[in-house]
Amino acid sequence: MNSDLSLEFLRVVEQAAIACAHTMGQGDRYKSDQVAVEAMRRVMDTVPIDGTIVIGEGERDEAPMLFIGEKVGSTHAKGAAGSRAVHVTEVDIAVDPLEGTNLCATGAANAIAVLAASERGGLLHAPDLYMEKLVVGPSSKDHVSFDAPVADNLKAIAGCLGRRVDDLVVIVLDRPRHEQLIADIRATGARIRLIGDGDLSAGIAAAVVGSGVHAVMGTGGAPEGVLTAAAMRCLNGEIFARLVVTKPEHETRCRAMGISDFKRVYRAKDLAPGRHIIFAATGVTDGSLMRGVRFFGDGIRTSSVIMQNDPHQIRFIDSIHVASTGNVKIRF
Ligand code: FBP
Repeated sequence: MNSDLSLEFLRVVEQAAIACAHTMGQGDRYKSDQVAVEAMRRVMDTVPIDGTIVIGEGERDEAPMLFIGEKVGSTHAKGAAGSRAVHVTEVDIAVDPLEGTNLCATGAANAIAVLAASERGGLLHAPDLYMEKLVVGPSSKDHVSFDAPVADNLKAIAGCLGRRVDDLVVIVLDRPRHEQLIADIRATGARIRLIGDGDLSAGIAAAVVGSGVHAVMGTGGAPEGVLTAAAMRCLNGEIFARLVVTKPEHETRCRAMGISDFKRVYRAKDLAPGRHIIFAATGVTDGSLMRGVRFFGDGIRTSSVIMQNDPHQIRFIDSIHVASTGNVKIRF
C-alpha cells in the first residue's frame, strides 16, 4: 500500500472530526455520530483507492453508510465511470468516524475520529461483539500474560518500567461489569482512571511513553479492539484480546465472519496482520495526545496523529484549515 495515502487518510479523519466537533456538548450522540459518518464517507470518496469497509458502522441493513462490505474510494465515487482503467490500490479499511459518541455529546475528553487501512486481508473482520482486552506499551509487552492474575501483570509492568505498582495508572471503562477487575486493581495499590467511554484512545496512550497511562484493562468493543491493534502495530505496543462469546447468536455472528475459535487470544499481529498498516486519528475533544478541534472564526485548527508501520513513521500533525482568503492571522 502506498504510504502517500497516509496524508489522504489524514484529510478523511480531519473532516470527520471537524463535522462532529460542531455538535460538541449538544447532548445528542446520534447526531454527533451521524455528521461524522457523513463527512467521513464524503471525503473517503476523494481518496484514490479501491476500498472496502471491513469494520464500520454496522451490517449493510443497519447502517446507511460505511457499512461492512461497502465500497469506498474514488473508483467507487458517483460519476467515476472509466476511472477503473487507472491503477488504484485495493485497501481494506476499519473506521470509527466518532469514537466516544457520548464524549462528544457531553464535551468530555478524548473523543476522536479514527480509521485504519491495510492491504486486502490486513485487518480482521471482527463482529461487533464485546472483547476482553489488555493493552500495554512496548517495554512490558513481552512480560505480561492475558490470563495471569491482575496483580501479576501489574507487578510485571511496574518492573519493566522501573517503578512501583502503586505508581502505575491503569485505565478501565467505568462499567458494572468491571466491578471485580477494579477491586483487583485497587487491591494492588495501582492507581485507576475510570473513563466513561473511549478505550481506543486509552489504548493508544498506554503505548506512548510519557502519556501517564501504563495499561488498559477490561472489556470493550471488538471493532475498537481491531483499531487499537492497528495502532499497536505502529507504536510497538501490544493488545491481548478475546471475543466475549456467550450466546448462540454470538457464535453465529462470529462464524459469519470466518471465526470459529471463540476462545482464541488475539494479539495485535492477529487482529491487524497487514504488512502495511496506516492509522489516522484526529482529536474531536481535547485528549491526552491530541487537542480537540478549535474554531477561530477564519479557520479551524485540528490535531492528529498519522502512523504507519512500513515505512515506520509516527507523525503528530497540527493543521490549520483556513476558511477564507482574507487577512487571516495564523497563531503559532
Ligand atoms: P461509541 O463511540 O460507539 O460511543 O463507543 C465508545 C466505547 O466506549 C468504546 O470506546 C468502547 O470499546 C465501547 O464503547 C464500550 O461499550 P459499552 O458502552 O457498551 O460498554
